[in-house]
Amino acid sequence: MERTPFGTAPGGQPVEVYTLTNKRGIEARVTNYGGIILSLRVPDRDGRFDDVVLGYDALADYLRETPYFGALIGRYGNRIARGRFTLDGQQYILATNNGVNHLHGGLKGFDKVVWTAEPFENEQGMGLVLTYVSPDGEEGYPGTLSAKVTYTLTDDDALVFDYHATTDKATPVNLTQHSYFNLAGDGKGDILGHVVTINADRFVPIDPASIPLGGLRDVTGTPFDFRRPTPIGARIRQDDEQLRNGQGYDHSLVLNKERAGELSLAAHVLEPTTGRVMEIHTTEPGMQFYSGNFLDGTLKGKKGAVYHHRFGFAMETQHLPDSPNQPDFPSTILRPGEHYRSRSVYRFSVSGR
Ligand code: BGC
Repeated sequence: MERTPFGTAPGGQPVEVYTLTNKRGIEARVTNYGGIILSLRVPDRDGRFDDVVLGYDALADYLRETPYFGALIGRYGNRIARGRFTLDGQQYILATNNGVNHLHGGLKGFDKVVWTAEPFENEQGMGLVLTYVSPDGEEGYPGTLSAKVTYTLTDDDALVFDYHATTDKATPVNLTQHSYFNLAGDGKGDILGHVVTINADRFVPIDPASIPLGGLRDVTGTPFDFRRPTPIGARIRQDDEQLRNGQGYDHSLVLNKERAGELSLAAHVLEPTTGRVMEIHTTEPGMQFYSGNFLDGTLKGKKGAVYHHRFGFAMETQHLPDSPNQPDFPSTILRPGEHYRSRSVYRFSVSGR
């Protein structure tokens, strides 16, 4: 595996890029800064390779400003209302970084720390083991959390994310991956033509600050019904309260499962002009579907790409937002002696004309 220097983090630690490749020629470049996937080159139906994730060329750009391009998110992916929760009778106050709310781990989440990276190769393919020990009290969270995340690029064309964590005090944990995809190619246009299927009968309705209203809503008859293949853009401009609150799709879909924790289909995405397909399976109960609503043309990405409105989408497999304050949502609390385990598989293929 190729390993090249990528600069120095603000704390002085050296940052590197690891290049993962598979038999078919798929290539993923990953840095130990924030576990960021810098690029991902996959073939189209004619065998032409393109980079299908958004991001920057230089570490300095990631340090300046990023909407979590490609990053590993923790301790808690998504929002925690007012940055507060009560656990075992004690209130905890987290860093707030999204108005009054806590988003994606706070001011310095797992996307902004330097991970220890160990490359490996096995029968499945090649990958990186990323480890990070988050100290007790970091961003307001209780307990020392030891996180271990494995990225594997398999020879059968999947990127597999295996998350593992242990703690010495009870704490919320909700790790995820925040790549922005454009299967037509990075910077090539908006993502509204991507045809999406999501295996979810229900979603989490939100207020205008993207905090859950409480309860789940049936997708039937709403623009959130992706149970049949539908272009992202087909209904995104409908006059719908939930689309207004999210400024587009920025919602957690509750995945249909026979058994909690089983690895099952979350989503299928087809980009019709190139035939590229991405299929996601996860053990997680939810998936945040974000249609890149806050991209507005101000961020300049790789090779001069300009990220205009909806030039990328994210499908973040995770637990439901604000779970520490939502007693009816599946618990995100990890206790001493328990093992947090989660797996998500993003598989790439092509579909004919
Ligand atoms: C959130 C969006 C947010 C984006 C980038 C997504 O996970 O749902 O609301 O703007 O991340 O920060």
